[in-house]
Amino acid sequence: MESKREAARRPHIRLHVEGALAARDRVGVQDFVLLDAHTSESAFLDNLRKRFREDLIYTYIGTLLVSVNPYQELGIYTLSQMELYQGVNFFELPPHVYAIADNAYRMMCSERTNHLILISGESGAGKTEASKKILQYFAMTCPMTDSLEIARDRLLLSNPVLEAFGNAKTLRNDNSSRFGKYMDIQFDFKGIPIGGHIIGYLIEKSRVVYQNHGERNFHIFYQLLEGGEEELLACLGLERDPQLYRYLAQAHVASESSMNDRNDWETVSNAFAVIDFTEGDLENLFGIIASILHLGNVCFRENRQGCATIPVIKEIKWIAKLLGVQPAALLEALTHRKIEAQTEEVICPLTLENSVYARDAMAKAVYGRTFTWLVNKINASLVNKDFTKKTVIGLLDIYGFEVFDKNGFEQFCINYCNEKLQQLLIERTLKAEQAEYEMEGIEWEPIQYFNNKIICDLVEERHKGIISILDEECIRPGPASDLSFLEKLEEKVGKHAHFQTRKLAGPTGRKRIGWMEFRLFHYAGEVTYCTKGFLEKNNDLLYRHLKEVLCRCRNAILKECFLAAELENRRRSPTVGTQFKTSLSSLLEILISKEPSYIRCIKPNERKEPSRFDDLLIRHQIKYLGLMEHLRVRRAGFAYRRKYEHFLQRYKSLCPDTWPHWRGPPAEGVERLIKYIGYKPEEYKLGRTKIFIRFPRTLFATEDAFEFSKHQLVARIQATYKACLERRVYVRKRQAAIKLETNWRGVLARKEAERRKWAVLIIRRFIKGFIHRDKPLGPDNEEFVVFVRKNYILNLRYHVPRTVLDKRWLRPPGILQHASDLLRKMCVRNLVRKYCRGITAERKALMQQKAVASAVFRGKKEGYAESLNKPFANSRIDEGDINPKVLQLLGSEKIQYGIPVIKYDRKGFKARQRQLLLTQSAAYVVELARVKQKIEYAALRGVTTSNLSDGFLILHVSPGASKHKGDAILQCEHVIEAVTKLVMLVKKENLVHVVQGSLQFYISPGREGTIVFDTGPEEQIYKDKNGQLTVPRRGLFQVSVRRKS
Ligand SMILES: Nc1ncnc2c1ncn2[C@@H]1O[C@H](COP(=O)(O)OP(=O)(O)OP(=O)(O)O)[C@@H](O)[C@H]1O
Ligand SMILES: [Mg+2]
Repeated sequence: MESKREAARRPHIRLHVEGALAARDRVGVQDFVLLDAHTSESAFLDNLRKRFREDLIYTYIGTLLVSVNPYQELGIYTLSQMELYQGVNFFELPPHVYAIADNAYRMMCSERTNHLILISGESGAGKTEASKKILQYFAMTCPMTDSLEIARDRLLLSNPVLEAFGNAKTLRNDNSSRFGKYMDIQFDFKGIPIGGHIIGYLIEKSRVVYQNHGERNFHIFYQLLEGGEEELLACLGLERDPQLYRYLAQAHVASESSMNDRNDWETVSNAFAVIDFTEGDLENLFGIIASILHLGNVCFRENRQGCATIPVIKEIKWIAKLLGVQPAALLEALTHRKIEAQTEEVICPLTLENSVYARDAMAKAVYGRTFTWLVNKINASLVNKDFTKKTVIGLLDIYGFEVFDKNGFEQFCINYCNEKLQQLLIERTLKAEQAEYEMEGIEWEPIQYFNNKIICDLVEERHKGIISILDEECIRPGPASDLSFLEKLEEKVGKHAHFQTRKLAGPTGRKRIGWMEFRLFHYAGEVTYCTKGFLEKNNDLLYRHLKEVLCRCRNAILKECFLAAELENRRRSPTVGTQFKTSLSSLLEILISKEPSYIRCIKPNERKEPSRFDDLLIRHQIKYLGLMEHLRVRRAGFAYRRKYEHFLQRYKSLCPDTWPHWRGPPAEGVERLIKYIGYKPEEYKLGRTKIFIRFPRTLFATEDAFEFSKHQLVARIQATYKACLERRVYVRKRQAAIKLETNWRGVLARKEAERRKWAVLIIRRFIKGFIHRDKPLGPDNEEFVVFVRKNYILNLRYHVPRTVLDKRWLRPPGILQHASDLLRKMCVRNLVRKYCRGITAERKALMQQKAVASAVFRGKKEGYAESLNKPFANSRIDEGDINPKVLQLLGSEKIQYGIPVIKYDRKGFKARQRQLLLTQSAAYVVELARVKQKIEYAALRGVTTSNLSDGFLILHVSPGASKHKGDAILQCEHVIEAVTKLVMLVKKENLVHVVQGSLQFYISPGREGTIVFDTGPEEQIYKDKNGQLTVPRRGLFQVSVRRKS
């Protein structure tokens, strides 16, 4: 089950596939693979023509680029075009040489592999231009650092220098490369171009001394003469007119408007400055160029002995000066030859013909070796001293297939080279491709193609090939000539299907082949070679005499080119043909080791004209370039294949099942992956070890999706990395925190230890003080005592009694007993004072009453203690309860206290309810509206109560008092209160008597009665047999009143 997120990714992947499909050119098809009639050469040509008319010179066959030379500036190589193609997928934009370059560059960067862009096509088809555009593209679009800018400039400027020395105007091309060039551009791991290396192949030296009619020598001669400053030319002994020099004038070429030698001279001069050429180097180099021109003008004349002489030695002098040789030695070397005869050397004069040969050989050798020196010099300036691993993109711009009216040894070599490259192409594309399908078990219909190996073998096979036969002829003792070589060819390879001579040809073909010629049926067509000069050019002989002179010259460049060691080496150096064969096979090794991209250049017409599309010429090129075969293989085949492991490794991030690891077999992983990204069945095939993808667009869509997913991966990697960094920081912080905590805890622990130590000391001192506490103050106890005092006082704060009745007090230590007592007293006094101050007048009066009650009853009467807590009332009778008549009777006397009482008759002890009213001066016993008894205080003799809790009070009246009725026997509930009030009103000391057991009273004056207070079983007041009132106390006592007669 795929998750929601995965489902959301799918449409994105699909979208990219659709986007690539939409990229299509309107005019013709931009990829021949899309041609309906892909097997028809006419349809192919039509498409090419349609596009060419619209100035669309580029068309793909899959990833191969077909380019038609427009012979005009099209404005398609601007900086904005470069930017457009930068980093864009191959098929998203119209075909362009930049797309090929960018594709190779991106593949190199992403896969860290070496690449090669192989540019082929015939002379004038635009190979060199294409290679220059590619180089410019890299220079402008690759990342760059300031320090490497110089490397970039050198790479760019090596071109004009090499072109000046190695290119020339031919009939087919005004700027024809007369040497093969393979250039490695080295990139570091960031994709920055950091250096390069150039390998030059077989420069056409013969051009120095001879050019076909209408052709020119190498550009540099004309540039020097046209552009060189007057002083420079004067120093070199040159005149500005090329016609003055035989090597330049013989081909009778009109000065061409297409060549701008003066401007080119400027460019080359500037380039020299960038590529590390010193003043000395340039002086020597131009010296050599000038000396070749002078050499061409050396004339020979035959003397009477038939030997060559030089009548005018002006040129010789200049050459001697410029090359730093002895004029006489040079003169001799040009007209004489040294022959080694056993032990001695014999010098014999040369014939005129030989002298001319010697002169031209010298010119060719000097120029050829100088060119090699130049390539080495440029390489030295391009070399990068950084030895880290580099990846390279190789650019091969080699002379194209050539057919002239007269074809010589050079054309033979050049065409052989093209044959080899075609072989490589066949090996790498057609043959290898088909073999691979077979090996991988992919269904495949074999494509028929012409394998040119047979021609290559004809030329290069050991002992049997044309080059070997030529070499044999060169070293063979006896008279060997170009003709004998031709005969040898007829003899040895005459039966070969691709070889023909006049003798071997049938009657029809015979007419077209000369006696000195042989014909090869190249893959690109038939070419007839004239054997004239083959042996000489293959030998490339420079007379030893001349070599010696050159080895001894003072010109620093030539010194490097002609080493003295060469003279000592008696072995014959390999022939030019063999050298070329060897260098070609090492070139092929270089090419095979790299991932190739192909550019096939087509020349639209022979006239170098824009907009002219020569069907015949182009059809021919289509054929020999093998474009139709290539298209057929492409159409039937697969644009891309990759080992399962590699494919999975690259794209596994596109499918959640394969990301981040696929544990099963890679083939299954790939199957799962492509199913997930939605490949259609016709888009791919699965081989034994590889996946084959039919259309490039499928791959590019996948690549786009990968690019997109890369961002996500990068984000994830970044996140992980950032998390890693953060974690590292966090761990460091944590460790720091732990260390801080540890140290801080250490600090705290030390502080605590200090504190405890201090505490121990204190405690020890405290104990000591405690032990000595009772001793006189001294060092041992002083502190302790102070502490105890302080502590006690401070503690006491919280334990001070808050009320007068609170008797608690903090127990003092022994030494503070006295102080504590004093403090306690003070405290109590203070509390009392506070208490007293807080008492109201009313309460004070009450207290006073209590005090009086205390004085009277304390310790004497039962029930007193209980009465203490009960406050005395002002009166027990409300004024309303007193009969108004009584109040009236009292008149102005104010009732101070009133209480209901039971009055017992003095005689019969009958109990009656009465009210006892106390005024300021008398006590009244009142019954309702009548005052039953008024006892003036003055007449009050005393008041008696019992010690028991019986409520009796007897008011004793003085016998003499008026209206005396005898003592009043009263009982009331609040006897203590009533008595106290009375005492306070009477203000008489000792008024109250608290008696025990019984008391006496006056029934009437002179007649006494007794009241007995006793205990009894029940509360009952009665008159006993003795006529006494007995008042038994409830449950315990009884009171009896006895009348005393
Ligand atoms: N893309 C192009 N745009 C404009 N002109 C071009 C282009 N390609 C080639 N030419 C023209 O064609 C001429 C020949 O091209 P170039 O020198 O590249 O041919 P070549 O294939 O290198 O030939 P040779 O094999 O002789 O070296 C150039 O000088 C230039 O004028
Ligand atoms: Mg070229």
